Amino acid sequence: MKPLKFQKGIHWLQVVVGEILLEIKGVHAGYGNLKILRGIDMKVPTGGIVTLLGGNGTGKSTLLKAISGLIPLMEGEVSFDGVSVSKLKPHERMRLGLVQVTQAKEAYPAMTVEENLVLGAYTRKDREATKADLQKVYDFFPVLRERRKQLSGTLSGGEVQMLVIGRGLMASPKMLMLDEPSAALAPKVVLEIFANINRIAKSGVTILVVEQNVRMALILAQYGYIIRDGVIMMQGDAKELISDPAVKESFLGGSVSDTTKALRN
Ligand SMILES: Nc1ncnc2c1ncn2[C@@H]1O[C@H](COP(=O)(O)OP(=O)(O)OP(=O)(O)O)[C@@H](O)[C@H]1O
Ligand SMILES: [Mg+2]
Repeated sequence: MKPLKFQKGIHWLQVVVGEILLEIKGVHAGYGNLKILRGIDMKVPTGGIVTLLGGNGTGKSTLLKAISGLIPLMEGEVSFDGVSVSKLKPHERMRLGLVQVTQAKEAYPAMTVEENLVLGAYTRKDREATKADLQKVYDFFPVLRERRKQLSGTLSGGEVQMLVIGRGLMASPKMLMLDEPSAALAPKVVLEIFANINRIAKSGVTILVVEQNVRMALILAQYGYIIRDGVIMMQGDAKELISDPAVKESFLGGSVSDTTKALRN
């Protein structure tokens, strides 16, 4: 895969035009009759990292579920790698390389680390490549290699997060969607997870990452979308978003003195 070149003044999406891996057009989706997403348009280019940001309950996880097929579309279209996947089942989308790691960090606690990882390859038939991918996952996350025989239920929060990302990698993704990989982790562990996500992207896997840790996500990603009440309210180069006054005000918090004041009120 060609590395992306960044040129000053040229929009990241324009640089890679023609190499769009995921395209979402006019997507409406929700639960039963309840509509959450109200006309989402989004593009994720091949290579690199795109982040989806927004407050609690704004529809971030719902959008990932609509992309991976866990919930049906009410309207609109999802295309992946040039193929319309709107009507495909989740495992069929997985086979095409569209893989989601859900927010729930679900690992089977009574199974070992390695058994959990191998489960991630259930849609694959290429045994030799699967074995090689297990070693690749262990290279990304050496702690999982050390703990491969340990029951998943005894892992720390950070290790479980590595395990579920590793299990996603075992499906041989072209694109990996991660739903809040830094949630509920200590700052040092968050840094480690983000460094790993960066390494995974450099290995050629396109990443779409939902985050609450807006500052870190905009440092990690090249491009960002901000969702509010089921619509994309803002998008742009990560570097531009991080210095945008509206983003700063809404997501990056005020000054330390503002926070101190708010805590004392
Ligand atoms: N299974 C469900 N049935 C009905 N409503 C749901 C369901 N899952 C989510 N919702 C609702 O959909 C809305 C969007 O939820 P979603 O999980 O997409 O938010 P989110 O942006 O991922 O939030 P968070 O940052 O807290 O994870 C919320 O109002 C939520 O209550
Ligand atoms: Mg969510």
